[in-house]
Amino acid sequence: MKKVKIALMGLGNVGRGVWMILNSNKEEIMKRSGYEVEVAKILVRDINKKRGFEVPRNILTTDFNDIIEDDSIKIVVEVMGEIEPAREYMLAAMDRKKHIVTANKMLLATGGDELFEKADKEGVMFNYEASVAGGIPIINGINESLTANKVERLYGIVNGTTNYILTKMEYDGLDFSEALKGAQDMGYAEADPTSDIEGFDSQYKLAILSSLAFGTKINVEDVYREGITKIESIDIEYAKEFDRVIKLLAIVKDNDGILDLRVHPTMIPENHPLANVNDSFNAVLIRGNAVGDLMFYGRGAGDLPTGSAVVSDIVSILRSNIDIDNLNPVVKNNLWKKEFNAINEINSKYYIRLTVEDRPGVLGEITSVFGGMNVSLKSVIQKGIESSENKVTLVLVTHDSKEVNIHNAINSVCNLNSVYKINNLIRMEDFT
Ligand code: NAP
Ligand code: HSE
Repeated sequence: MKKVKIALMGLGNVGRGVWMILNSNKEEIMKRSGYEVEVAKILVRDINKKRGFEVPRNILTTDFNDIIEDDSIKIVVEVMGEIEPAREYMLAAMDRKKHIVTANKMLLATGGDELFEKADKEGVMFNYEASVAGGIPIINGINESLTANKVERLYGIVNGTTNYILTKMEYDGLDFSEALKGAQDMGYAEADPTSDIEGFDSQYKLAILSSLAFGTKINVEDVYREGITKIESIDIEYAKEFDRVIKLLAIVKDNDGILDLRVHPTMIPENHPLANVNDSFNAVLIRGNAVGDLMFYGRGAGDLPTGSAVVSDIVSILRSNIDIDNLNPVVKNNLWKKEFNAINEINSKYYIRLTVEDRPGVLGEITSVFGGMNVSLKSVIQKGIESSENKVTLVLVTHDSKEVNIHNAINSVCNLNSVYKINNLIRMEDFT
């Protein structure tokens, strides 16, 4: 049996998963890759940290040079997170002809080109399956299995933390911060959970996925983003009235070469398969012009699911019979030129929750403003729930409308004396 030495950079949630799988599935990995994999070094911040599992102390290091200067280490696995020093270390490792596996979506989405170009230049492999949707093999799915298709639509629940929070709020009645604490305890959340709850993590993942799916360079700024922090239990309850659930959805639609790229809370029909993707599970639905609708489903976060994707990337390097002169380009994101729609240009149905004065004629004032802006209302609910004296909650649901008209209507409605507050606006999706 041939042996190969690798190094891990990071031994947190994902690093632990990788370490566990390399040990527990040693035989499977040996038989499938043809190599016995030895973890020669693990870079951490603090060697003395209690980790709750066995790891030989002599392979832990805080000095990156122990990895870079060891020519017997052939693969470097980056599971540290953040931009620096991960970027610097991966570039240096590639300089020394080491292959790379990374789970770092933030770095890939914001500065991936530099890394991909370096990998091409040095003739090393650069794999990043774990960067999107944890254990789901979506990167390989798009890169390998869907290349015969023109992708028309992509819808994803790609953040485990927010999906866990929304599920706990909906089914267990937890409040937002209790649910977030649960996601952190389970190792789903980023070191700074703002990245999850404000939608940045999904934005990075959508930029990575859609660059591959649409063969075009997509910058993070091209993706409109909203997180879930404005979602309240009352919105979840109203969604039920419309037979819908709320999910943080990443959406791309190709409208004849113009892409809508967006991440935002979305009310979706409760009988759609994505509505039943709960807890830390993720799913990506892709509509190809040949294959039709295809859905990938699985655990989107956590040590072992993510470790599974990382280790499969290691095995894929070992199985590739690397021929430096014949490597495929790492990324093919310059095949087509696309344009991007601003969020104001999209068409959608909308749920709008307002607090208004409870007196005769108010409903008429508000609905006529929407009518004047060419927004047709599908339903209006006023349940007489008093928020406080003489205030009442009003919920409007529109037919398909252009977003700019919705914003114009909301701006005008805000000028009415009878309207106290626009509490929330949530887009609705019917997957047509
Ligand atoms: P984590 O639990 O915070 O672990 C980070 C690890 O990196 C720790 O072991 C830490 O060392 C080490 N580290 C950080 N900065 C370092 C530095 N400057 N020098 C040396 N070591 C350093 O993070 P994680 O949840 O495993 O996530 C790691 C990466 O995987 C991130 O890019 C994340 O976005 C991605 N990812 C995470 C998940 C998930 O479910 N958590 C899923 C998919 C992708 P110490 O242990 O000594 O502090
Ligand atoms: N924080 C991320 C999530 C980890 O919750 O989905 C997986 O990428």
